[in-house]
Order: sequence, then structure tokens, then C-alpha cells
Amino acid sequence: MKSLKIAGKTGECEIAIGQSIEDIKINAEKLVVITDRNVKKFHGERFPEAEIIEIGLGERIKTLDTVSTLYEKFLDMELDRSSLVMGIGGGIVCDVAGFAATTYMRGVNFGFVPTTILAQVDASIGGKNGVNFKGYKNMVGTVQQPRFVLCDVALLKTLPEKEVRNGLAEVVKQAAIGDAALFSFLEENVEQTLLLEAEIMEKIVHDSIVIKTKIVEKDETERHERMKLNFGHTIAHAIEKTAGISHGEAVSIGMIVESKISVANGMMKKAELERLKGLLEKIGLPTTLKANISDAIRKDKKRRGNVVKMPVLNGIGDSKIIDLRVEDLEAVVNDMC
Ligand SMILES: NC(=O)c1ccc[n+]([C@@H]2O[C@H](COP(=O)([O-])OP(=O)(O)OC[C@H]3O[C@@H](n4cnc5c(N)ncnc54)[C@H](O)[C@@H]3O)[C@@H](O)[C@H]2O)c1
Ligand SMILES: [Zn+2]
Repeated sequence: MKSLKIAGKTGECEIAIGQSIEDIKINAEKLVVITDRNVKKFHGERFPEAEIIEIGLGERIKTLDTVSTLYEKFLDMELDRSSLVMGIGGGIVCDVAGFAATTYMRGVNFGFVPTTILAQVDASIGGKNGVNFKGYKNMVGTVQQPRFVLCDVALLKTLPEKEVRNGLAEVVKQAAIGDAALFSFLEENVEQTLLLEAEIMEKIVHDSIVIKTKIVEKDETERHERMKLNFGHTIAHAIEKTAGISHGEAVSIGMIVESKISVANGMMKKAELERLKGLLEKIGLPTTLKANISDAIRKDKKRRGNVVKMPVLNGIGDSKIIDLRVEDLEAVVNDMC
């Protein structure tokens, strides 16, 4: 088992990687578990003794309405500040549970047991808890560290293959921006990673979390440093919407687009771009853009202005933020379509 601690402005968070969900120690008078149908079906038997609330599935339920139904249940259960809310699930469960817990009675204790790769390395880490509003992603939210995050990698075994690949896109992102050794490890252990071998996953989850926590600790409430975590994400939403593909797939293509810009600007070597492409392809992620996303980028330009701040790689494991003209972004995208 490995452990880490985030000492943020909004609280301390204990992170345990490789601990079993059964070993979790609850220090609260009342425990409420928030989860979803899939997670309960596969792992409900392993949950601690608690009141269980199931929320729906998918991005569409990550709303204030869902949060409101949780508040009602919290009221019925007479939850108070001596209680603990535990989100057991993917990024959606963690976001909804974290937001509801940090706003109910101006904040009750909460912790996460993330059950997807994406949630273990990304969504449960960093203290951001948000929901969507009027179709805008993560428009309403709070920043508050959970008390704990327990990453039991055995929970990942039931993930559909697509979710494994989606989560690994974020792992590659994290390695690419901040850890060349992890990137090499992934290259050398792709098969074992795709099989979710426990020892391999513990290392990957741990090292990815270290990258994110270092960035978050430097810059807890966002801005410059935290922007590095957006590598591959500048046009990912445009790709997701236009091409109708998953977030992880869009991030994979986004990382290639952004790296082409790095190569064109003499920051990253072409051979390193090929390494990135090679790793993503071995994982089974797309690296070419089939849909024309120029329209979506142009619409984005109206919203964001003519210059975007974008994370780029100096090389594998080293990133920085640059100002990029939207025209230059469009040129690379057009070239790829
Ligand atoms: N707060 C943050 O800092 C942050 C960071 C990154 C992403 N996010 C958010 O995370 C969300 C995406 O998270 P996600 O990819 O985990 O999606 P998700 O929560 O929808 O989970 C994906 C699917 O896998 C299922 N599932 C979860 N665990 C499982 C398991 N162990 N076995 C089988 N099936 C399982 C879920 O029921 C769901 O159908 C987005 O809403 C995104 O905005 C938040
Ligand atoms: Zn992402």
C-alpha cells in the first residue's frame, strides 16, 4: 500500500493507494454512501455498513436537481456535521457527492472511493467538486479537499474496456506533462496495464496522483500551474461534440494536436511526438482526427477570444503554458482533418 497527503488551503486529504475498501476506518456517527447502479451491482457487497443512496448514470444527471434530491435525503436521514458522506464510484459520483457534501449545512465531512481509472487519478484528486448547469460542464462548484481518497485498484477489474482506455488517456496526459519515467514505464508495460494487473496499477495510479497533487499544491485554486492539467483538453470538448466520441478518445487526439503545435514551434522533437502517438495507439486510443471541427473551434473563439492559453510539451515529462493564436490552432487542425 502507498499513501500520500495533500496539504491544501482548503484542508488535508489522506490518499491511500492499494488499500482494500474493506479496510477503511470510519470515524463518524453516521455514514452515507453515494454511488451509482453499476458500481453497486458489481461492488455493493464490499461497501461498508451505511445508508446507501444511488444516483443515476451519465453526464446528464450531474446537475443541481440531483444534488437537491441528495439534500432531501440528507434531511430525512438527519445528517449533521458529525456524519460522513462517502462517494463510491466514477468521476460523476465523486463530483456530485463532493458538491452535495461541501454545500449541505455549509459543509459536512466527505471522502471518496473512486472506482474508475479516471476518478482514481484525476476526478477524486485536487478538491474540485462541480456539477453541470444549463448544459455547461462543471459550471457550478466548490473547492474543498475530501478527508480521504481510497484507491482500491481491485475495483477497476469490472470496468468496461472503453472506460479503461478513457482513463488511461488521462494517465498518459499526466505522465506527459510531468513524469518522463512514468511515461517510459507505461511504454514498457502496456499489456499488463490493459489487463489491470494490481501491482502495475498501484504504481501507475500512485505516480499519476503525485503529478496532479504537486500541481494542485502549487496552485490549489487554479490558474497558471493547474492549467498544465488541461494538456490535450483545449479542443477536446469540440472534438467530443463534433466527432461524437468519448472524452478520453478526444483527449488522446487533443494531445496529438497540441504536440504538433509544440513540434512546429521547435519545443518538442518529432521523435517524442511519435512516442506519444505510439503509446496512445498501443492503448487503443485514436490519434487522428476524422471529423472537421473548425466550426466548433471558431464558435469557441467567439467565447474565448483570439488567443488561447494552452499547455504544450517541451518534451515528454515537461510542460509549459503558451499563448496561441486561434488561427494557428485552426491551421494545425485543418491539416489533420
Ligand atoms: N472534479 C475534478 O477535478 C474532475 C476531474 C476530471 C474529471 N471529472 C469529472 O469526472 C466525470 C467522468 O468520470 P468517469 O469517467 O469516471 O465517468 P463515470 O462516473 O460516468 O463512470 C463511467 C462509467 O463506468 C461505470 N463504473 C464506474 N466504476 C465502475 C467499476 N468499477 N466497474 C464497472 N463499471 C464502473 C459507471 O457507472 C459509468 O457508467 C466527468 O463528469 C468529469 O467532469 C472531474
Ligand atoms: Zn479529461
